[in-house]
Amino acid sequence: MSIIKLLNKKLDRTIFTTPTHNQKAQFSQNYDNFYKNDFSEIEGYDNLANPKSAILMAQGKVADIIGAKHTFFITQGATTAILAAMKALINPADKVLAARNCHKSVFNGLILTAGYVEWFMPDTDKDWGIYTKIDPKKLESTLEINDYKVFIMTSPTYEGINSDIKKISEICKKHNTYLIVDEAHGALYNFSNDLAKSAISQGADISVNSLHKTAGALNQTAILNINNDIRNIDTHIFQKAVNVFQTTSPSYPLLANIEACINYLTSKNGTDEIKNLLLEIDKFKKELKRFGIEFLEDENHDPTKLFLKKEGISGFDLSDSMYDEFNIEDELNNSVGCLYLCGIGTTKQKLEKLKNALKKVRTNPSFEPISIDFQPFPLVKMQPVDTFNRDFIYVNKNDSLLKISNIMLLPYPPGIGILYPGEAIQKWHLDYLNKDVEVIV
Ligand SMILES: Cc1ncc(COP(=O)(O)O)c(C=O)c1O
Repeated sequence: MSIIKLLNKKLDRTIFTTPTHNQKAQFSQNYDNFYKNDFSEIEGYDNLANPKSAILMAQGKVADIIGAKHTFFITQGATTAILAAMKALINPADKVLAARNCHKSVFNGLILTAGYVEWFMPDTDKDWGIYTKIDPKKLESTLEINDYKVFIMTSPTYEGINSDIKKISEICKKHNTYLIVDEAHGALYNFSNDLAKSAISQGADISVNSLHKTAGALNQTAILNINNDIRNIDTHIFQKAVNVFQTTSPSYPLLANIEACINYLTSKNGTDEIKNLLLEIDKFKKELKRFGIEFLEDENHDPTKLFLKKEGISGFDLSDSMYDEFNIEDELNNSVGCLYLCGIGTTKQKLEKLKNALKKVRTNPSFEPISIDFQPFPLVKMQPVDTFNRDFIYVNKNDSLLKISNIMLLPYPPGIGILYPGEAIQKWHLDYLNKDVEVIV
């Protein structure tokens, strides 16, 4: 079926995925005709690569709200914001410490900057099968042994776990390491007092937000925020780095969508929507807990990310049942549970539908939970920059142990690598590999 025909079909299910806007504009902006606003940088319309008027003012307004020195509007997703932040800070052979649960754009950023990576393993929660926080003590001892130019990490995680960015940024400052926080899933933190504190307000040097994931904006909208007290680097370096990756024909409708989204989030309607959503989620959880549903929660968890499990059924089977029998699609699932994402645009009716379905899903009294096994510490044999465009051969996976992978093993979502090019293939990886594996020669 053609793309046009596909999009003309009515969506036949309820989705709890990104973007959360429910396929409707949640704030006013003239989208009757996308073409009407589709300009290049004609006279009087400012230029994203060197903004001087409307775009500069809009970015400045957002930076003031967030408490940043500068905010860049990005029309190609958090991916581009991450690449630009890395390009601005990392020179070839600079040492980079990266949390292993980072999005794959970080690995690609390492290829593009030629930074040398060491991976940092975040804590794990075996009951839920997920990566959780960055342990500040473990980070401190890592930074004491080696100098790193940059530490890059994700908070919140896909499932809504927040790390203690205040402590982490203090440790990074003490060790002269720039802290980049991929806050793609925490865009709302900048605009709500009812959620966790934003990374910038807690001292991160850089934060990156996807506005399309949970903030109600269109796909590809994102912002890159630079902290006021960032050391020894001028804002124009970030502009230069953004311009390396950003198209020279940015979409004005998307730029206006970023502005409209943030105007909405800071308006009474926007803050009320977040408050109401949190109230509805609270009621939703209270009721479902009486039906054998357990939610991932802790004192600083982002409640808009409903990661849940049901007694008597695996996460995989729950996901299939919800899809096949109730037409409800989750964002991701593992052997334990399913993630249903909420945000700007998630209605009470949608939550009601999810709740009713979750109550009805059939379970099996003799169900045995599947034990969770996390990836081993990666063995980096070749730096990411050296892996690109290498000669490779295919070997049978049974002969691939400790050979250097030329492939990226990356379940998506969440887009977290379990094996990247340049890493030794370990016994643990064998179950995930195809019969023939590309290895670098
Ligand atoms: C943690 C994280 N960072 C960055 C990204 C990339 O975001 P975008 O799709 O806006 O480029 C994703 C996408 O899933 C993500 O999960």
